[in-house]
Amino acid sequence: MQYGFFDDDSREYVITRPDTPYPWINYLGSDDFFGLFSNTSGGYCFYRDARMLRLTRYRYNNVPTDAGGRYFYLRDSASGDVWTPSWSPMKSKLDRYECRHGMGYSRISSAKNGLAFSQVSFVPLRDTCEIHKITLTNESGAEKNIDMFSFIEFCLWNAQDDMTNFQRNFSIGEVEIEGSRIYHKTEYRERRNHYAVWAVNVPTAGFDTDRETFLGLYNGFDHPDVVFAGESKNSVASGWAPIGSHHIKAKLAAGESKSFVFVLGYCENPEDKKWQSAKGANYFASANSGVINKAPADALLEKYGTPEAADKALSALNEYWKNLLSKFTVDAEDKRMARMAGVWNQYQCMVTFNMSRSASYFESGIGRGMGFRDSNQDLLGFVHLVPERARARILDIAATQFPDGSAYHQYQPLTKRGNNEIGSGFNDDPLWLICGVSSYIKETGDYSILDEKVPFDNNDALADTLFAHLKKSFYYPVLNAGPHGLPLIGRADWNDCLNLNCFSKTPGESFQTTANFESGVAESVLIAAIFAFVGPDFVEICKRTNRVDEAEKAAKEIEKMIKAVDAHGWDGEWFLRAYDAHGKKIGSKECEDGKIYIESNGFSVMAGIGLEDGRAEKALDSVKEHLDTPYGIVLLQPAYKDYHIELGEVSSYPPGYKENAGIFCHNNPWVTIAETRLGRGSRAFETYAKICPAYREDDSDLRRMEPYVYAQMVAGKDAIRHGEAKNSWLTGTAAWTFVSISQYILGVRPVFDGLLIDPCIPSNMKGFTVTRHFRGADYHITVDNSAGAEKGVKSITVDGNTLEGTILPVFGDGKVHKVVVEMHNEKKHS
Ligand code: GLC
Ligand code: GLC
Repeated sequence: MQYGFFDDDSREYVITRPDTPYPWINYLGSDDFFGLFSNTSGGYCFYRDARMLRLTRYRYNNVPTDAGGRYFYLRDSASGDVWTPSWSPMKSKLDRYECRHGMGYSRISSAKNGLAFSQVSFVPLRDTCEIHKITLTNESGAEKNIDMFSFIEFCLWNAQDDMTNFQRNFSIGEVEIEGSRIYHKTEYRERRNHYAVWAVNVPTAGFDTDRETFLGLYNGFDHPDVVFAGESKNSVASGWAPIGSHHIKAKLAAGESKSFVFVLGYCENPEDKKWQSAKGANYFASANSGVINKAPADALLEKYGTPEAADKALSALNEYWKNLLSKFTVDAEDKRMARMAGVWNQYQCMVTFNMSRSASYFESGIGRGMGFRDSNQDLLGFVHLVPERARARILDIAATQFPDGSAYHQYQPLTKRGNNEIGSGFNDDPLWLICGVSSYIKETGDYSILDEKVPFDNNDALADTLFAHLKKSFYYPVLNAGPHGLPLIGRADWNDCLNLNCFSKTPGESFQTTANFESGVAESVLIAAIFAFVGPDFVEICKRTNRVDEAEKAAKEIEKMIKAVDAHGWDGEWFLRAYDAHGKKIGSKECEDGKIYIESNGFSVMAGIGLEDGRAEKALDSVKEHLDTPYGIVLLQPAYKDYHIELGEVSSYPPGYKENAGIFCHNNPWVTIAETRLGRGSRAFETYAKICPAYREDDSDLRRMEPYVYAQMVAGKDAIRHGEAKNSWLTGTAAWTFVSISQYILGVRPVFDGLLIDPCIPSNMKGFTVTRHFRGADYHITVDNSAGAEKGVKSITVDGNTLEGTILPVFGDGKVHKVVVEMHNEKKHS
């Protein structure tokens, strides 16, 4: 069944009942300040780093789920009725409820007993705060007197410490209250230079800042004593758990509406201006007044002091998104595809670019930083939106590469330094840098990025050009090849759970960082395929920057690698996956379990290996035969039944989950792209649609995750919950599915020379329209498939003139160019 619907005109998903099968969330924020926001107003927010600078507390794995958020409690003073208009946390019975998740904002509207409530929540562009504009409307025929209580719970900044270090944390909480403004200043007296402010733009009847006073020690969020009593206790937090609650008395005549602007802001002061002087205006470095310098909060709150100002900020945000999403739009008969490719998939790509894998309802935001491979791949779906940010990100990532071409597997976004605890040794990492950089150059034509001086190992003394980094990347797998001439896998390749040198016997030990067995033998066919896919881009980059010898030399290495795959990476019906530390095959018919894996098959065909001799087709047919399900393609079959010490984490999961034969969505688009190389448009689209959430909207009870975003994993056919999704939002699936649908199915693909037109679609798709902003011009592309083809361009006209070939030229003239494409059936394997 469905729990809502897509409102395409307003680019919103409208949730029509609050008890969704899992909290369905949205992300607020675009630069430095971010909030996670569920359909019942749950979630939390942070400034830049979800671990180190968390403003509000959130309890993962809580019962009931999704506890903690920005709550507004309402009390009708005549009847004494109390309810939460966002449904949670009281699970109030509402006469009306709706939550609209839009681009960077969410809107909850509800009504009860003749009182309508609306909450619109967003992070304004460029400011470090959340705005919650609340409107109460008296829909009854008589006057109403409403007590409204706001509620947030502060996190003591470091989210990890906040959840563990209670012997200290129960004693350090501090606040200041000034009128309608509540300041959270824990640890400000010592080394922090920042505080939070939770404010409302109207006078209040009271406040609370101590959680136990507000709720009552033995109550949950669903029964706050203060709200039921209808009166704040003006409590001042001192240690324990600081919160922010305002009490507002609203008298509403029949038909009357009133709006209130709540702002939750993050403010910083320079070291010498942390405190207000005892005499007032001047600011001091010393804490002798004990009163924080509120100048930045004053400025922020001044800006958003009226409902009109909040509306204006929301309009600016809407404009920002309208402009971003105008860079690639789709119109087609298939509305589910059009809304995903044109709106939601790109929106998710922005979120994965911003968040990497740090904060979602599954990623606690206290663990890993940004991944080298993850961030490079996230770029693929983002680079057309804000190329300048992609450029800056590439330089950040590249600076965490080691002089030998390997890379820190992860780095911290705040410091931009590689993580020592995890180190390097994931031997696919270097190649993703080539992938990220070439997608940036194809999008922008900006080769100057190659000349940027970038440190190795974050050390300026070791800086060299970005090109030098790419070269190190390219030669890493070449110089670190194993007995079959295939790249050594190291700790793992793209599949973090294929830990062939780990041999872990100790519970709790990390599969990724423990290497007990430096075999120098375990090899990855996937890395070879990635090399064969991204290598040619490196060759092109060399050619186009007059490095002819370099290009020739590199091309030879690619040939050699493909020969190694031909000789040692083919199993008869599909591509092998790897060789273990004993030189035994993985992903072979010879294996008992894990006979066939998806990744090496998708990527090898993407790279064009076996296209000429039928192996590519055979490999994808085998994938279909052995790995396909109604909900997508599983990672491997048969699932591992037992733990294999020589394989590592992959065999640690129960069959059907995660890397052990789950539908690990990230790699499904590789098969989609591979199918387009074979020209099999119907099958390509089938693999696309199976994991596309919009197609499973009416199956939400099984799928459970949001119908508007991809999930990392859907349980595979061996699992009891086959078809159930998990880990929505932060997944490489976002970028790769966007690449697969926009560049390979719809076939509008940036290449070094321009925009290639190469659609590969189901024969019953009559056509479609794409508009694409590309290197300073707009292309309005109409594809006519009345021929019922799957692949093949018969003719292209640009502004009425016939185009030679299939690459749209770079106009860069700020104008709109009209492109008409006619398809016809071409023979396979083009
Ligand atoms: C997770 C990781 C990613 C890895 C994938 C497969 O999504 O973030 O880096 O490639 O799992 O193991
Ligand atoms: C990836 C895998 C996950 C593993 C993690 C460790 O995210 O999907 O199963 O625990 O890597 O880094």
